[in-house]
Amino acid sequence: MNKLSVNHLLGIEHLTEEDIQLIFTVADNFKQIINRPIKKVPSLRDITIANLFFENSTRTKLSFELAEKRLSADVVNFSASNSSVKKGETLIDTVNNILAMKVDMVVMRHPTPGAHEFLSRHIDANIINAGDGTHEHPTQALLDAYTIREKHGDLAGKKVVIVGDILHSRVALSNIYCLQKLGAIVKVCGPLTLIPKHIKELGVEVEVDIKKALEWCDVANLLRIQLERQDTKFFPSIREYSLKYGITIELLNEINKEITILHPGPINRGVEISSEVADAKDSVILNQVENGVAIRMAVIYLLASSIK
Ligand code: CP
Repeated sequence: MNKLSVNHLLGIEHLTEEDIQLIFTVADNFKQIINRPIKKVPSLRDITIANLFFENSTRTKLSFELAEKRLSADVVNFSASNSSVKKGETLIDTVNNILAMKVDMVVMRHPTPGAHEFLSRHIDANIINAGDGTHEHPTQALLDAYTIREKHGDLAGKKVVIVGDILHSRVALSNIYCLQKLGAIVKVCGPLTLIPKHIKELGVEVEVDIKKALEWCDVANLLRIQLERQDTKFFPSIREYSLKYGITIELLNEINKEITILHPGPINRGVEISSEVADAKDSVILNQVENGVAIRMAVIYLLASSIK
């Protein structure tokens, strides 16, 4: 099989295990290419991609843009803060105006869960979800799983704990879908106020004791507390969260076991992760960022094959 089962990447929920493995195989090739002195291939010379960011981003926006340029696509960038969205234009009108300029593919980050699914029913272009509110962030989950695979091999049976603000995290849901499709066992850990009530329906166990969670896992994916999505208090203070759930070198030394540390970024040093842990040899945070470009090249390349 050399084709995805979908025309859009709206979420990991819609991918098959075969889709994910195909993305990884294609990303393996692109990772070799982006580590060569000449990092570009001419594959998508005839494709134009619009990156539409209605929410802030550093990693995802730059990573998509680099991936597109490495594939030789033409790229246009749009950010909501300086666009006509401010003048009351609807999402469908904004995107259709961009598509009228002969754009083939849309990469979009939007604060509304389901915005991409809605758009996919109204426009004639491939859509890639670069994050929709608290719902999904599929390319982040793909690059996370790819990074774990690089370090640990096949994910089947691997134990992964996702720590922190699960309630407000699109990374958590996409990771749960992706890791489970690949056969990994997933737990979440954090204050119960930050764990969605339906989480067990996804086949995910909850552990509130961070030490027990770390003793259990092979991999810990640490999430940021998303204060920008919290209009009420979910724990007494950042300091208390950090004391109870922050990962420090002292805590890891107590457990005395090799645990691979992931973090999707942006990291808050001294809150969910100490500087020593972020920069330790078992931290693969920058490997995640490097792999993000190869994974996004693979996703774009595979979706573009349905245009030609
Ligand atoms: N991981 C992630 O989505 O980071 P950005 O918000 O910087 O894109």
